[in-house]
Amino acid sequence: MSEQTLSNLMQENRRFEPPADLAANANVKEEAYARADADREAFWAAAAERLDWGRKWDQVLDWTNPPFAKWFVGGTLNASVNCVDRHVEAGNGDKVAIHWVGEPDDDARDITYAQLKDEVSRAANALTELGVRKGDRVAIYMPMIPEVVVAMLACARLGAPHTVVFGGFSADALASRITDCEAHVVITADGGYRRGAASALKPAVDEAVAKTGDLVRSVLVVRRTGQDVDWDDSRDVWWHDAVDSASAEHEPEMHDSEHPLYVMYTSGTTGKPKGILHTTGGYLTGTSYTHWSVFDLKDDDVYWCTADVGWVTGHSYMAYGPLANGATQVMYEGTPEKGRWWKIVQDYKVSIFYTAPTAIRTFMKQGREIPDGYDMSSLRLLGSVGEPINPEAYVWYREVIGGDRCPVVDTWWQTETGQIMISPLPGVTAGKPGSAMKALPGIAADVVDDDAKSVGNGNGGYLVLKEPWPAMLRTLWGDDQRFKDTYWSRWPGLYFAGDGAKLDEDGDIWLLGRVDDVMNVSGHRLSTTEIESALVSHPKVAEAAVVGAADETTGQAVCAFVILRDSAGDGGEDIVEELRRHVAKEIGAIAKPRQIMVVPELPKTRSGKIMRRLLKDVAEHREVGDVTTLADSTVMDLIKGKEGSASSED
Ligand code: PRX
Repeated sequence: MSEQTLSNLMQENRRFEPPADLAANANVKEEAYARADADREAFWAAAAERLDWGRKWDQVLDWTNPPFAKWFVGGTLNASVNCVDRHVEAGNGDKVAIHWVGEPDDDARDITYAQLKDEVSRAANALTELGVRKGDRVAIYMPMIPEVVVAMLACARLGAPHTVVFGGFSADALASRITDCEAHVVITADGGYRRGAASALKPAVDEAVAKTGDLVRSVLVVRRTGQDVDWDDSRDVWWHDAVDSASAEHEPEMHDSEHPLYVMYTSGTTGKPKGILHTTGGYLTGTSYTHWSVFDLKDDDVYWCTADVGWVTGHSYMAYGPLANGATQVMYEGTPEKGRWWKIVQDYKVSIFYTAPTAIRTFMKQGREIPDGYDMSSLRLLGSVGEPINPEAYVWYREVIGGDRCPVVDTWWQTETGQIMISPLPGVTAGKPGSAMKALPGIAADVVDDDAKSVGNGNGGYLVLKEPWPAMLRTLWGDDQRFKDTYWSRWPGLYFAGDGAKLDEDGDIWLLGRVDDVMNVSGHRLSTTEIESALVSHPKVAEAAVVGAADETTGQAVCAFVILRDSAGDGGEDIVEELRRHVAKEIGAIAKPRQIMVVPELPKTRSGKIMRRLLKDVAEHREVGDVTTLADSTVMDLIKGKEGSASSED
């Protein structure tokens, strides 16, 4: 969102007050803020009581060795028992856990909590049979099918941390994640359905496994599409052979509250993705509490989070949060083709809907006639996540999708925070289009300047978190030092999120996007450095610089500037396409630059640092800013002269 739009909106100060009927029903009332402020640990302890524990904790929080937090110290629990077994034991075995909708028409399945319990137990037994033991890591590379949830919960049941890799990532990206967390087992599928066709997954797994030496012992494969796959008898096992025949009885072990639950790789400011480690008790407390409070979850709600399970939103608000709360939810395999989402809302009477601004902006472009053709009167609450929501998209979402009656919760959080941190509470907090409003009860956020001083109302600065929270990352997998350096070194005692933010005159928080080298494309997090490394690994490229340029639909888009090696000449006619394909191969199609410009030079300071700010000006078709600190100020003329040549924008 530009500063201009933001200030216009803030001046307009448009506010949606919480609906009175919702206020009367809200799971969490206004007093929660004061209660949490008065005793933060008691507040989170009460939230943890919502779960079933094998053994109660002795201490809520151990923060004696910051930034290494321990929550619910001495407590034991099992995440899969909390997500499944306890609902069956409470008599809700027949309640639908997942209304699964496949992409091909009439391909749908309802899975009750009792069925889920049997499946998870079977899968846990099958994984044990394959040699998976407590503490072993398991990589999961799957489409949006129920088996992915079963696989995650089966791992959690055994205490084997999973690492789910988004199915859109390349074989190389999968291989580097398998290697980093030393996974001996990979769970995958032959493929999945997307955009009307079957796509393949198993070949990427074969390629990735081949790159990891003899690390991977077994590959468990779900047959989803029936397409032909290469098969290695010594390693590959069909899910239907191993899981379907396994016993549905599985005695779960209670794991320590701090036992690792999963590792999720995410982009940082360097080339190497970071393995964010989440543990069990605090994570489940934070996700289940926020899912219940922010979405004001009721027993008869039908909840739908459209995120892919390969991202953290799919972990916290598709898998663990809703299932720990015993919710009924929709899971959809495909992409948001015109009208399909709204038909699902209509058919399943979805009441709570959670998606990303990019999707909303895409629907806005397609026109309101499409959603207007469906009955969406079942909706009562809308959520947004992943990137700043521009006020226009917020208002459209509220009016067109929410029929002007559903409050919108704009939820700010990160892979690292594990749980929603900043968001209105429906029925309690007013909403302002474009603002995530305020930190949830039990969360201490602030906006500070370079000296870590609070900027105060009406000013902008850096978003920080001042107190530990239950679902916070515990470290980066195998790299405590990088964990400290990345998040805790800028200001002592403060977690630096990497986001810029502004406090308005009422003290409400407006997120302004990343202030580091992380880009946000369609709510997906990408690192400029990682894409630069991918480009430079191409034999024709000498140097590369990548910036995130503003994009109307995707929020930001990847724009690359490359210098070719002398030996490459002009690179050939298809150089731009060749490089885009190369990035897709190295990282995944989501990282493909929208635009690549082949340039003779890059703008650098005298100390050799690339001035991305100037490249961003070019990518956003703006007048180039101050060039006085450049070693050679004529460079920008050379680059501007190249605009339009050897570039692709599709
Ligand atoms: O820049 C913020 C943006 O997404 C980043 C976190 O990305 P990731 O770890 O992939 O998690 C995305 C899903 C939680 C943040 O640093 N972001 C996320 N939610 C919002 C947001 N920016 C503005 N408003 C939001 N609601």
